[in-house]
Order: sequence, then structure tokens, then C-alpha cells
Amino acid sequence: MAKPPIPLEPRNDLFQQALSNTSKLVFKRLLHFSSLPSTNAYLKPLAKVGEREGLIVLADEQSEGVGRLDRRWYSPPGGLYFSLLVRPMNIRADETPLITLTAGVAVAKVLQTALGLKAVLKWPNDVLLNNQKVAGILVESAFIGNDIEYAVIGIGINANSTLGDFPDLLQSKVTTLQEQLNRAVDLPRLFGYLVGQLEFWYVILRDKGFRAIKPHYLRLCRTLGKNVTVDMGDRHVTGMAEKLDVDGSLIIQTAEGRLNIRSGDMVSSISEDMNE
Ligand code: BTN
Repeated sequence: MAKPPIPLEPRNDLFQQALSNTSKLVFKRLLHFSSLPSTNAYLKPLAKVGEREGLIVLADEQSEGVGRLDRRWYSPPGGLYFSLLVRPMNIRADETPLITLTAGVAVAKVLQTALGLKAVLKWPNDVLLNNQKVAGILVESAFIGNDIEYAVIGIGINANSTLGDFPDLLQSKVTTLQEQLNRAVDLPRLFGYLVGQLEFWYVILRDKGFRAIKPHYLRLCRTLGKNVTVDMGDRHVTGMAEKLDVDGSLIIQTAEGRLNIRSGDMVSSISEDMNE
């Protein structure tokens, strides 16, 4: 049987130091691995057996990184791949997509403020730079009735990787921080900023609700007001992305009337005219 992965020694770990410099309220514990199949897959069973809110699992690379809709998330060394465990008490199960939107706000704001990049969001969870995907968020949760038992917020950022690290088919769709900045970024420092912002926005979501975050999301989101094509599995539907519903779903106006698209639904792609 394969040996279970062993976390790196916390002493002298720059990511542990970055965490203790930033995070005060929620995300205070870190398990850092040199490699994991998937940080979400590692954290979910721990969440299931009662691990407390606030644990972060970080890996320098992932061999089986998972994206939304069961897609693969390419996770070569040089990227940032981590998952955070939350147990929000006052968010209902059907509002789980709001956690994804909130995490998107945190990631985009860090890329803007810490790195000076023009990061925007493509509903629900893609973080884009110059129309190319630089980061993605995958929230996986379990429910008890209409309560959230746990949510694992998985974040993947193409940071110090190059386009050559990605399969040919993806190279026109993705970008990396290094490609955009023409220099490598300080990963532990970026991780510290990200956790700080994720904590800041998560506490707002938990204590004040998405109402307080929505204006920020709307300012960052480039999908609203655009024509979108949604792949519904058996057919494509085109319409105008009109607004966000209270649960974070996207309301689009189509020839057939209004359609409510949930982020976890069968939406497999949204294409937009993003040339502005
Ligand atoms: C997406 O845009 O499809 C979401 C990508 C989420 C990738 C991250 S990397 C850390 C965490 N572990 C995983 O296996 N996936 C998420």
C-alpha cells in the first residue's frame, strides 16, 4: 500500500511564517506538502471526521488536481495550490455558491493590490488576466439538511509556471503570474496575502452576508451585461447575463425567457465576448 504523504517540517517553512504573520482569526493551521494528488481530496476526509474550521492544506504540486465539473487542474511546480476548511454556521446549503464568489473577490483583489495586475472575474469562479485564466476556485461541500456541514475552498493559481508547463490545447486559454509580470513572484508572501484576504472576506460573508460583498463582486465581474452561451449538456443556450440571483446563480435572458444558471449545474462552458 502507498505510504500516506508526510507534511513538511513546519519550522523554517516560509509558508508557515507567512501564515503566522497574516492570519489571526480563522485560518491559523497549515499542513504543507511537497506533493499531493489534490489538496481538496486530502482535506475532505479530514473535514468529514470533524477537523475544525481553519485548517489549510497546501501542496507545491498536485498530480491529480481537480477543477470544476470534474475537469483536470494542471498543477506543475511553481503554482500555488491550497484548500481551506470552513464550517459557516449561517449560510444555508443552497447558498454555497456564495462562498465561491466570495473567494473569487479575495483572489482578484490580492492580484490587483499586491501585484498591480488588472484581475477580473468570469462568473462564477475564473480569475482572468487579459482574458486568460490565471486562477480557479473549486468549493466542495457536504450538507446536513439545509446546513453546510463543511466547505473545502480549493484555490489554484498559475504563478511561477510557464505556458510550456500546460498542454498545447490550454496554452491560448491560460496565463501565469510570471508570464504577466516578466518575473517570478514570492510565493510565500503571495500565499500570506491570499489567506489574509480570504479570511477578511469570509468573515464578512459569515457575519454580514453576501449583501455586503455583492457590490465588490459586481465591480470585478466581467460576465454581467454580456452575451453568454451556456452548454446545458443536450443543447446550447445563448442569452444576456442579466444579474446575480441572491444565491449567486446567474440569471440570463434568452429567447425562451429567463434562465437561472447555478454554478454547480450542468454548465460546462460559458463563452463571452470579452473584447472591450
Ligand atoms: C476551476 O477553475 O476549475 C477550479 C480549479 C481549482 C483548483 C484547485 S488547486 C487546489 C485545489 N485542489 C484541487 O484539486 N483543486 C483545487
